[in-house]
Amino acid sequence: MRRSWVEINLEQFDRNVLAVRNALGSDTEPILVVKADAYGHGLSRMAARAASCGIRWFAVAYIDEGVEARVSAPDADILILGAAMADDVAALAEHRLTAVIVYEEQARILSDEAVRQGVSLKVHLKVDTGMGRFGVPWASAADTFRRMDALPGIEVTGVCTHFASVEIGRPSLGPTQMERFLEVRDAIRQSADHPIFFHASSSRAFLYFEEWDLDGIRPGIILYGYGTGKPDMRIETRPVLQWKTTVMMVKDVPANFAVGYYSSYTTRVPTRIATIAAGYADGYHRLLSNRGMVLFEGNAYPVIGRISMNWITVDIGADGTMKPGDTVTLMGVDGDVAFWADDMAKQARTIPYEILTSIHTSAERVYHG
Ligand SMILES: Cc1ncc(COP(=O)(O)O)c(C=O)c1O
Repeated sequence: MRRSWVEINLEQFDRNVLAVRNALGSDTEPILVVKADAYGHGLSRMAARAASCGIRWFAVAYIDEGVEARVSAPDADILILGAAMADDVAALAEHRLTAVIVYEEQARILSDEAVRQGVSLKVHLKVDTGMGRFGVPWASAADTFRRMDALPGIEVTGVCTHFASVEIGRPSLGPTQMERFLEVRDAIRQSADHPIFFHASSSRAFLYFEEWDLDGIRPGIILYGYGTGKPDMRIETRPVLQWKTTVMMVKDVPANFAVGYYSSYTTRVPTRIATIAAGYADGYHRLLSNRGMVLFEGNAYPVIGRISMNWITVDIGADGTMKPGDTVTLMGVDGDVAFWADDMAKQARTIPYEILTSIHTSAERVYHG
């Protein structure tokens, strides 16, 4: 018996990382976003691999992720995107992590604690230019910067923002946000007596707006192979992660045979049904009930019935050759058929980010290349 596992193509990851890096000018740093276990790919291995490709900057959400990234990338700059608090100061200092300040009081809290502990922290200031989540208001951000810059125990080395939306051919907030951010940048540059590192773009902004690269960009999803593929985008990347599992049982059933909880599927003709090792407890989205797809020997087979906690059922047709112990692909490619996280996301009415980060950590990550 084997539960589902994930196979990660490190050579494809290298190609994606290098595609991003090579698209940038020499004065823009790619800050690889490896939070949420590198979007489900495994933070340690992905960060180490990227570091060996020459990447010098990473971003994570939490301190524990920063500590993990530090082991993989001993010399990198590592940004903590979440709101670090006083009790994070010792770890920030010990592991040389850069905190992102998302509200002014947080800067005072970290400053006081850093002084108390006799340490100095690098911090970046997050400016809310329209995302409405983290960040100080853009209209007063330059004043906030000046006050923060005067605090002991912290050194403000960067300023950043995050886009709420970036669209082409329809209205989005991105351009207005960038205007606001550039105003903040000009005002800060006038008052600061030391260099400041400015960064804004995540994947989508990077793909469309070269002039927004600034000193750094923070790509995430494109590193893992999603979000590219339109001709007007700067680069193309390909998926890195495949999700596989085993067949547990196969049975022949007649027409009018009901399958799964609440009998949401009934066979129309005699057929063969395979029960496969994956369910919502593994991160196989329940909205894929009667909508998912499983690949085997170059064919795609429909998921029928409700997704249950540990199993899914698939109609393999009366002549289907699947048997217990066979390997099937839940996400990935098999011969000429493919079903990637974005295909799965469409079926489950969500985004590939959620599909990738939902794959449970109990699925072993197996690395190739
Ligand atoms: C602050 C911040 N920057 C960058 C990213 C990367 O975004 P994307 O994966 O769309 O490139 C994220 C993702 O959630 C983020 O929260």
